[in-house]
Amino acid sequence: MAIIWNQNDRTLTLQTDGSTYQMKIDNHNVLLHTYYGKRTELFDYSYLIDHRDRGFAGNPYDAERDKTYTLDTLPQEYPCFGSGDFRNSALKLRYGSGASALELRYLKHEILPGKYRIPGLPSMFADEDEANTLIVTMKGDAAELLVHLYYGVIPGADIITRAVVLENCSSEAIYLEKAMSVSLDFQYGSYDLVTFYGRHCMERNVCREKLRHGIQSVGSTRGASSHQQNPFVILAEPGTSEERGGCYGLSFLYSGDFKSEAEWDQINQTRIVMGIHPANFRWKLEPGEQFHTPEAALSYSGEGFRKLSWNYHDAIRNHLCRGPYRDKRAPILINNWEGTYFDFTGEKLFEMAKEAAELGIEMFVLDDGWFGVRNSETGGLGDWYANEKKLGCTIGELAARIHGLGMKFGLWFEPECVSEDSDLYRAHPDWAFTVPGRKPMRGRYQLVLDFGRDEVREHIFRQMCAVLDQSKADYIKWDFNRSVSDVYSASLTADRQGEATHRYVLGLYDLLERLLARYPDLLIEGCCGGGGRFDAGMLHYAPQIWCSDNTDAINRMSIQYGTSFCYPVSTMGAHVSACPNHQTGRVVPFATRGAVAMAGTFGYELDITKMTAEEKEEVREQVARFKKYCDVIRNGRYYRLTAPGEKSFHAWEMAKADGSEALVTVVSTMLEGNPLGCYLKLCGLIPEKIYEVAGRRYPGAALMNCGVILPTAQYEYQSWQFHIQAVD
Ligand code: DGJ
Repeated sequence: MAIIWNQNDRTLTLQTDGSTYQMKIDNHNVLLHTYYGKRTELFDYSYLIDHRDRGFAGNPYDAERDKTYTLDTLPQEYPCFGSGDFRNSALKLRYGSGASALELRYLKHEILPGKYRIPGLPSMFADEDEANTLIVTMKGDAAELLVHLYYGVIPGADIITRAVVLENCSSEAIYLEKAMSVSLDFQYGSYDLVTFYGRHCMERNVCREKLRHGIQSVGSTRGASSHQQNPFVILAEPGTSEERGGCYGLSFLYSGDFKSEAEWDQINQTRIVMGIHPANFRWKLEPGEQFHTPEAALSYSGEGFRKLSWNYHDAIRNHLCRGPYRDKRAPILINNWEGTYFDFTGEKLFEMAKEAAELGIEMFVLDDGWFGVRNSETGGLGDWYANEKKLGCTIGELAARIHGLGMKFGLWFEPECVSEDSDLYRAHPDWAFTVPGRKPMRGRYQLVLDFGRDEVREHIFRQMCAVLDQSKADYIKWDFNRSVSDVYSASLTADRQGEATHRYVLGLYDLLERLLARYPDLLIEGCCGGGGRFDAGMLHYAPQIWCSDNTDAINRMSIQYGTSFCYPVSTMGAHVSACPNHQTGRVVPFATRGAVAMAGTFGYELDITKMTAEEKEEVREQVARFKKYCDVIRNGRYYRLTAPGEKSFHAWEMAKADGSEALVTVVSTMLEGNPLGCYLKLCGLIPEKIYEVAGRRYPGAALMNCGVILPTAQYEYQSWQFHIQAVD
């Protein structure tokens, strides 16, 4: 049993293979958080709590004359605003009276087999015998508010998920102003906060900062999880490295506005919370109604960042992604976007597909511009029917010709947006978010549809189904090319406008779910101008996400490096594109572009008809190599052997968990005269085994303890891939 209730000391202990998490109900029925870290034997960790009068703290009335009892310093499971705890809170609400103070006390708990799910929201899943659920119900003191804290424990994955259900049992409406999914308190120690920041075309750079007194936070108010910050953060003990040290991950399974705040308080305790960003959130909870927060997935590693990443990689692959491509490699694709942009005909597309098929590429993806009147960014979104004049045929005919090549066929959609120059907007201007009396804010010339409205989603769903039925498409690229601003829903009353952004995300998930229910074999690739919505929420529907609009292989190495801290290689959309690169102008050898894209789903995005015979041969060879090594690439353990810029080369490795095989990729990033020898230690091998590398044999111990000596680069961005195979 992964969840243990001890009636004597009133502790609830959650055990995973590598971690222990504990809470305790104290004498005042406050739910304390007593421990999270390395797995330990069962023990009451409340001895660590330091009860002292710290001054200027609130003492709950039932603590009577005990000045040392205050929620301001006690570690708690779900801290509330107005409880005498002046640190950051996880929950803030407002009653009809205008008051907002709240104290929560334990009421009951329940332990269930299996893993809970959340209606309408993504959540991790597990078989009944793989997981347990704990529900702790807390009661608000000022009104009949019930707070159900959900914990999903997946021991084999070293994952503990958290979510909250708020239930209004009173006779009047309650407004939720902040309802975070998780709060974690650490009573001692200092921590670094690791976050993943960026911008369009330069996502998920790693930032590591020591927590200082006060609050450090990251988040998004862009309606999507954003290019700018990722809803995955790590709290790490100082000195934590890839291989050593204690660290905690928090991954938010949500694709909209989010916030994570880490606080180092007056007595050097740490609190971290994560949930929906409160800036544009206010939810009216009528009597009898419940509100479900999204889920957060926690993991602890006592063996550095690498193990933490593996925990998430495995959990995402096994307990989050769904559909046929959860367990098998996605087709190697060619996408026409950088090859043609909006300028194509059906015949041109067919020529591209034909040449690609001859080289072993398995799917043709028709990107933006095939529908409505869309020959530039300015029109057509919302009119999801083929532009037969441009294609010279119906979408069904084009798809049939491509299917006839033995290829799969995919189509680009941007279902959430509408162009003003479209039939849809002309018919339903009020379907786009617009604040009354104001001109709407444009982003990439387009507006955002109010996906919280059933009729809007229904219309888009019907249009998409018609195209999917006609084309028998195997794949959708689901794009979203702007931030959500000036949110106002014509379907909500004034007191519910604060719900519009979350309802929008619920609508997005609803449409994705409906499509998957109707087309269970459909592969959806998420995209938001590249990696602007690369989050664990989206991965529940789209098992791969276009990692970035930046296809420059050298920039891609750092984007994929940052992404790998939480997300596995199988989720990272990565393509070989033409040079000079369209985003940076850089020229990188074709082989290196291939090697970098192989640390992802692998595909091409260029005009293959313009390639030389020699380049086409390289494509054929790369495609064959990716197919040959796809098992170790996709299912192997990922090792970040260097950090970008750390050395004169960048390297990563995928190795099978049993140590039988590995693939190492090295890209030279700096050329020097009279170069120094470069040594690279490998990982994940068995010291006693003998391995063959490029025709030579080495003991595993030599490869791991001393490493290989890398060849000297002869030209800029030269790369090498070493396949390492155990031979005895
Ligand atoms: C942004 C995407 O990330 C690109 O790959 C491409 O699909 C364009 N949108 C099309 O408008």
